[in-house]
Amino acid sequence: MDELLKEEAKAFDLKMQERINAGHIPDLRLVKTCHYFYNNVWREPLYVNLSIWPRFSFILKHIKDQGLRIPRILEIGCGAGFISLELARNGCNVTGIDISKESIKAAKKFANENPFKEGFGYLKYHVAEIFDFLKNIKNAFDAIVFYGILHHFTFFELMELCPLMRGALKKDGIVVGYEPAYDRFNESSATILLILKKLLRNAGNFFEDTFIPDNEYELMAAIRNTLLSSKQITENLTKKQSIKDFSSGYADIITALTFNFKTIANENDHGFFELLVGGLRGKKEEIEKLARFIDVVDKKLVEFGSIHSLSFRFAGKKRDSQQKK
Ligand SMILES: C[S@@+](CC[C@H](N)C(=O)[O-])C[C@H]1O[C@@H](n2cnc3c(N)ncnc32)[C@H](O)[C@@H]1O
Repeated sequence: MDELLKEEAKAFDLKMQERINAGHIPDLRLVKTCHYFYNNVWREPLYVNLSIWPRFSFILKHIKDQGLRIPRILEIGCGAGFISLELARNGCNVTGIDISKESIKAAKKFANENPFKEGFGYLKYHVAEIFDFLKNIKNAFDAIVFYGILHHFTFFELMELCPLMRGALKKDGIVVGYEPAYDRFNESSATILLILKKLLRNAGNFFEDTFIPDNEYELMAAIRNTLLSSKQITENLTKKQSIKDFSSGYADIITALTFNFKTIANENDHGFFELLVGGLRGKKEEIEKLARFIDVVDKKLVEFGSIHSLSFRFAGKKRDSQQKK
């Protein structure tokens, strides 16, 4: 494994250990309030319901649309396994792989503790590097699932990875998943996000600082900070989740996917919902009401074209290499 990948695995090992020790439950059905997350959807079950569940439903729908009795699924970069676990609960035969030992350890722990046994398919996890794993697999899976992993690869890596995924799929197999696309975040989206944050903070419902820009220079600085923090990037790049985080953006990922897979669906996801909702503070009923409000407002703003969707869901069918693109 090269040094970059070792560093990548280490970053996720540390993050996962820290999260699990802080009481994080990476199980979509059993998730509990966890204040370790100061601005992340895993802070409250409602935020998970409004963001991760719809993505899971998208993934499951496209797998079910294949009409197979026990679909054989591979999840690449499965982390703590919440998508794989849910697919197995829906009767699939799932293999989840990740390069991070601690993530796979957590995934196995929560799979072992699963109380929802009825209709459970099969579930196994492996510590494995995606390229190494896929090189040895041919025509084996009905679907390959990705959830927030492709943006860790550069465009050139994606153009190598996608043919390997294609090769690992059976005839008519699909790829399906979700990816962030923070490169689509622009000044106008950042300004609307900034307005919401400042007003929420003024009303005592947001955790961030109270500073309110009142001239153009301060406003432009605040917009720039909002744009940078959306990518979790500080001036010295210290806050990226890992060394390879945000190696590619929307155009890179969608180009690699559509070059190798025939599009079944390419849907917008939320705009800045995930950058805002975890930062809400206040009484439970109050923040839940605000979260639902932000959810619908966000979707409308994306629909109206006023803000960009900062993530997307994609489902695509295996292209034969001879097939016309
Ligand atoms: C942003 S996390 C997403 C994890 C999980 N899908 C989730 O949403 O919580 C990316 C994951 O990909 C894994 N990963 C990164 N590069 C990998 C590689 N080359 N092979 C296998 N796993 C990799 C990381 O260890 C990490 O768990």
